[in-house]
Amino acid sequence: MANQGAVTIERHIIEQQQDFPEATGDFSALLYDIAFAAKMISREVNKAGLVDILGLTGRENVQGEQVQKLDEFANEIIFKAMDHTGRLCCLASEEEDDIIPIPKEFKTGKYVLLHDPLDGSSNIDANVSIGTIFSIQRKISSGERGTIEDCLQPGSRQVAAGYIIYGSSTMLVYTAGKGVFGFTLDPSVGEFLLSHRDIKEPKRGKIYSCNEGNYNKWDDNLRRYIDYLKSDRNANGKPYKSRYIGSLVADFHRNLLYGGVFLYPADAASKNGKLRLLYEANPLAFIAEQAGGYASNGRERILDIQPESLHQRTPLIIGSYEDVKEAERFIAGEQE
Ligand code: AHG
Ligand code: MN
Ligand code: MN
Repeated sequence: MANQGAVTIERHIIEQQQDFPEATGDFSALLYDIAFAAKMISREVNKAGLVDILGLTGRENVQGEQVQKLDEFANEIIFKAMDHTGRLCCLASEEEDDIIPIPKEFKTGKYVLLHDPLDGSSNIDANVSIGTIFSIQRKISSGERGTIEDCLQPGSRQVAAGYIIYGSSTMLVYTAGKGVFGFTLDPSVGEFLLSHRDIKEPKRGKIYSCNEGNYNKWDDNLRRYIDYLKSDRNANGKPYKSRYIGSLVADFHRNLLYGGVFLYPADAASKNGKLRLLYEANPLAFIAEQAGGYASNGRERILDIQPESLHQRTPLIIGSYEDVKEAERFIAGEQE
């Protein structure tokens, strides 16, 4: 029995559920549905480079079907894996303007799924790691079908959150509020196997990750912070390493394991960030905090922000606890 020690994601979810005798199993099944969708997306992502070789011409494939963009495809896979299960009351996705209702013919359930189906999609053609990010909230509206009210809940109310990274291997990382667990897809058996138990992020990192091409658009305090990280008067006594992939999931994942700070700050002029609160910042903030890290918009805790609209953007500073807190002090002008 060579595989006796291998913990599949299914077994892990069942074991976790034993701590909640009142659980109906819906939540565990929902996580399992996500893992299934992730495997389907992973398969397509791995084939992406073969599209031209396999005779797909222009925007049509061999069956004469339109070739979809991978992010639309991923969006559809997730919806199809979820629409009929009776576990969700509605969904929201970075790819769709409005909330996504459950079709009338199917039953609804007590959870909401908010997701970025494919994150870092501009990197696909260069074979750079990309990801999927998800957030699960509990339904709070009183009607049978979900409403926007169910989607616009602060991140602190998330029931679970996670991401899948399609990298040198495919990994699923998630939290349900009791630590962070990572699973690596074994493609030979098609199972996610527990590979990272109770992930903890170092309190202080040695890496900073941001698009420094935007340096001239940032305000002085933020520029002072970046200058400080590059100097040897910082808390580590030597310059931080700069690492920026441009795929949030991949940048976040590396920093989660090694320690570090990721920043996508606001421009001084617009005061707005690029990343989306509901599909990107909230789920990753939940994971960061569960791993002992922190996430801020520069002034307040990401998880405390009351969302006002589905596609709301936010500045995001996330990663090692001491680093994010220090960034906040610089932004407030309390440290130079
Ligand atoms: P998405 O592909 O879902 O639209 O997200 C892209 C995001 C994120 O993955 C990354 O951190 C950021 O855009 C990179 O932005 P810049 O190219 O401005 O650095
Ligand atoms: Mn994204
Ligand atoms: Mn996306």
